[in-house]
Amino acid sequence: MFTFERVIKSAALIAALSATSAFAVSNITITKHNLSSGGSGTIKSATGDSNNEICVYCHTPHAANTAFSGAPLWNKKSDTAAGAFTMYGRTAANQAGVTIAGTATAQQPNNPSMACLSCHDGASAINSMVNMPGSGGYNAGNQQYAAFGATGAGTAFKMPAGLTQIGTDLSNDHPVSIPYNEGNASLKAVSTTLSGWAGAGTIANLLRGGNVECSSCHDPHEGTNPTFLRTTNAGSALCLGCHGK
Ligand code: HEC
Ligand code: HEC
Ligand code: HEC
Ligand code: HEC
Repeated sequence: MFTFERVIKSAALIAALSATSAFAVSNITITKHNLSSGGSGTIKSATGDSNNEICVYCHTPHAANTAFSGAPLWNKKSDTAAGAFTMYGRTAANQAGVTIAGTATAQQPNNPSMACLSCHDGASAINSMVNMPGSGGYNAGNQQYAAFGATGAGTAFKMPAGLTQIGTDLSNDHPVSIPYNEGNASLKAVSTTLSGWAGAGTIANLLRGGNVECSSCHDPHEGTNPTFLRTTNAGSALCLGCHGK
């Protein structure tokens, strides 16, 4: 029978569902990763340029770069600086290095981090695409560059020096492409439940191939928390998600 009590219960259920955002929306449109001419940042497609799409700077529905496995349906060529990165615990590229717990860092970043570095290393073009918007935009052989800022179409536009240019020296950044070994550095069990994180319900969901990568802490589509963080870092909540310090 349909009772008032049941109406209250279903209202509470709906409220609970929306609170846990079972269907979370990331809202990339309002972020600096909206590189269309209408984007909110300063680095973007030139006003009036026909490349007024958002996803196209990273993904394409067809003819994706299948040689790159770091992110799905990837619309960029491989990173220009591949092989030149200096990882955490090292002083030069392709050297041996370890964390305090003795975990060896990779010699070069794994592909999931290379996806980010293909724009953030300052060496690779932000405006390059395998498959430009519209019909007939595919060019397998050559890089194609959208017009960005004062840079005309056909010219590479690289991340300018500044906070967002992570560069090729990753020795002063939190380790990436590093295995998640429970117990090291007070790391919690990978089965630990996370509450309110974008795209992850457990620590295991944060790992890519068992490793911590850029996308463990950042979701490149996330407009809720500053700097694309998967959760707030107020009270260092992000750090405390993995480290039981
Ligand atoms: C600045 C680059 C960038 C832009 C722009 C971008 N993405 Fe992504 N996307 C990525 C990366 C990198 C990953 C892999 C992330 C990971 O490993 O968690 C990804 C993963 C995804 C995934 C699979 C993982 C998931 O979150 O479900 C989907 C679906 C997706 N993107 C859709 C989109 C759509 C739709 C747009 C445009 C509205 C878009 N992306 C724009 C970089 C981008
Ligand atoms: C297609 C190029 C591209 C890719 C791929 C890309 N970014 Fe970005 N990102 C940008 C640009 C452009 C900006 C704006 C930089 C500026 O204005 O200084 C930016 C800004 C950021 C910022 C600063 C945001 C803010 O609000 O201050 C963070 C954090 C960031 N990116 C992280 C990532 C991570 C992590 C990945 C991979 C998961 C990634 N990006 C992949 C182009 C890219
Ligand atoms: C362990 C978590 C973690 C990992 C892994 C990580 N980041 Fe971040 N990143 C952060 C936090 C936290 C901030 C905000 C820092 C702040 O507010 O000073 C940040 C900030 C940034 C910024 C913005 C800097 C600024 O001051 O505007 C960029 C760009 C960025 N990260 C890119 C990357 C890239 C690229 C990778 C992979 C090579 C990466 N991050 C890996 C946690 C992480
Ligand atoms: C996704 C899980 C994760 C998050 C989130 C995370 N870390 Fe880590 N952190 C790791 C892993 C994995 C290691 C490597 C541990 C090892 O030595 O085996 C590590 C190592 C470290 C180390 C020690 C490096 C060394 O040389 O021993 C420090 C310090 C650190 N993290 C600080 C932070 C801070 C600060 C934050 C928040 C901004 C953070 N971490 C967020 C996973 C994470």
